[in-house]
Amino acid sequence: MSDNTYPKSITLPDGALVNIALMGTGDRDAVLAFANGLSEEDMLFLRVDITQPEVVDDWMSNLKAGRSISLAAFDDNGLIGYATVHRNAAPWTRRVGEIRVNVNQLYRARGLGKNLTSEIFAVARGLGLKKLMANMTSDQHGAQSAFRRLGFVPEALLADYVEDRKGTPRDLVIMSYDIDGHTDAIADTVRI
Ligand SMILES: CC(C)(COP(=O)(O)OP(=O)(O)OC[C@H]1O[C@@H](n2cnc3c(N)ncnc32)[C@H](O)[C@@H]1OP(=O)(O)O)[C@@H](O)C(=O)NCCC(=O)NCCS
Repeated sequence: MSDNTYPKSITLPDGALVNIALMGTGDRDAVLAFANGLSEEDMLFLRVDITQPEVVDDWMSNLKAGRSISLAAFDDNGLIGYATVHRNAAPWTRRVGEIRVNVNQLYRARGLGKNLTSEIFAVARGLGLKKLMANMTSDQHGAQSAFRRLGFVPEALLADYVEDRKGTPRDLVIMSYDIDGHTDAIADTVRI
């Protein structure tokens, strides 16, 4: 199991040292800087436009209210990735959490997404969540592959459900991870 105390330092397989901390409202500007450093392609698929200060402010109020918990990964230059577990206010979905993971392009495929996901799984388990969902478009092949490697399975495909930043309709893929079906043994496989 992940040691669920923050901040903590982790070492990626290539030796890079990364600090992981609970995100708080003081990280607002770091999130905006992270968002503005995303590639055009990544921006196209953003669920909400986190380059906009008011959108990040909404995120910060979700953190404050406990609807979201986010883990922030930093290197010496700033925020390089995050993982969020978000709970919907509706009581009948209280067993479900939505996972959102985003890693700076320079850190992709270096094990950071896997580490952040493993950490946020532990947080979600601590919240008593039973099922985790992740949303992405059917065009995000890399993200789908990565989430499959992390133990998620595709659960639904909703045709023309979302519009990208340019207004093009896209199919939404909903992937899920059943926490009860994947207890410590699986947590070990997502830990480096
Ligand atoms: C999805 C995402 C978070 C993965 O982060 P990452 O740091 O690159 O992932 P990791 O390096 O930890 O890789 C995790 C696993 O996925 C695999 N993987 C990563 N990127 C991949 C890609 N583009 N294609 C295929 N497999 C990939 C890795 O090989 C690894 O598998 P392993 O366990 O066999 O080693 C990252 O690509 C990202 O930020 N994408 C944009 C945001 C997004 O789409 N998020 C998903 C919706 S919430």
